[in-house]
Amino acid sequence: MLAFSAEHGLAVPARALFLGAEPHPALAEWPEILGWQPLKPRADAWDRAGFARSDDLPEATWPLVLVLPGKSRDETLAWFALARERLEPGGRIIAAMPNTAGAGRFEKDFARATGSVTSLQKHKCRAFHTIDNGSWNETLFQDWRALGNPREIPGTPFLTQAGVFSSDHIDPGSQLLADHLPASLRGNVTDLGAGWGFLSDAALRRCPKIRRIDLFEADARALACARRNLAHHQPEVVRLSSPTCDADDQSHIHFHWHDVTAGLPDTYDAILMNPPFHTGQATDVDLGRAFIKTAISSLRRGGKLLLVANRQLPYEAVLETSGLAWRKIAEEKTYKLLFAEKR
Ligand SMILES: C[S@@+](CC[C@H](N)C(=O)[O-])C[C@H]1O[C@@H](n2cnc3c(N)ncnc32)[C@H](O)[C@@H]1O
Repeated sequence: MLAFSAEHGLAVPARALFLGAEPHPALAEWPEILGWQPLKPRADAWDRAGFARSDDLPEATWPLVLVLPGKSRDETLAWFALARERLEPGGRIIAAMPNTAGAGRFEKDFARATGSVTSLQKHKCRAFHTIDNGSWNETLFQDWRALGNPREIPGTPFLTQAGVFSSDHIDPGSQLLADHLPASLRGNVTDLGAGWGFLSDAALRRCPKIRRIDLFEADARALACARRNLAHHQPEVVRLSSPTCDADDQSHIHFHWHDVTAGLPDTYDAILMNPPFHTGQATDVDLGRAFIKTAISSLRRGGKLLLVANRQLPYEAVLETSGLAWRKIAEEKTYKLLFAEKR
């Protein structure tokens, strides 16, 4: 995106907003760039590089909005609309994405809304930009904005949002784990990579002896959905409190925007997870392994780890070297359930 600015001789205005912000040394020369990044590891990287960041989508306008969208179609189109809403009249939007994420198709979509775009292809990616000349198709942008609104998974009470894991269905692997949760789980429990809260909800329904549950999740949007999806498990006093007040202290359900690979601040009687194995578009089995290592070091003596994974993922080796007693308690065409105990 920066190479794009330089090669096309684009003037860099004094202020810019970066949706999906990721650090780059060349950005250091930009006077005032504000980042928004819902994924915790990337937000941390942005912070470490010393840039300003807003936890919430900032509500103002900028002469330049940069967009590095996520993976899904609806999320990408919704982010174009978020960029449009935050653009000053006469301002410029620059978007970039890998070809494997459908860059060519999204460039055409963007051109449908804006009339024309200037494009550069390099490093198996595309960057494209255009200036607001007052003739953009605002109806199309409004339609795209709506794609980012909370949505219900059909036939369920669960709310999700475009771009979060499993945003239009219950993950079958997580369902398999939910179906095998022992009703005897008790004490302090955590759900690592909790997404929009499916496993936590299942555990709270099925296991009455859970005293407290901590949800750790890297995607702030998924965590916001989880708060809504678990609200009915909260005591009345919490549900009635103001939405701006952090009522977590009165609750037995705690929500953490957190990078699980960095370890956990507490230890647990039981740990549930359907660990991630993708970083961006790429398969990343090490991410799943890192989740398991975090879990192992956060289990209390006698604590139980209950995880579901795709059958081909080689997680048994991590359990084997961990000193935990483990067994495969179920397996079907796609998934396996591994349960382990710290003796
Ligand atoms: C396979 S999904 C499972 C989601 C949820 N537990 C469910 O069953 O629907 C893995 C989740 O881990 C989250 N995740 C990925 N990397 C993470 C990290 N480093 N720290 C915390 N969560 C992460 C993803 O955003 C995703 O929600």
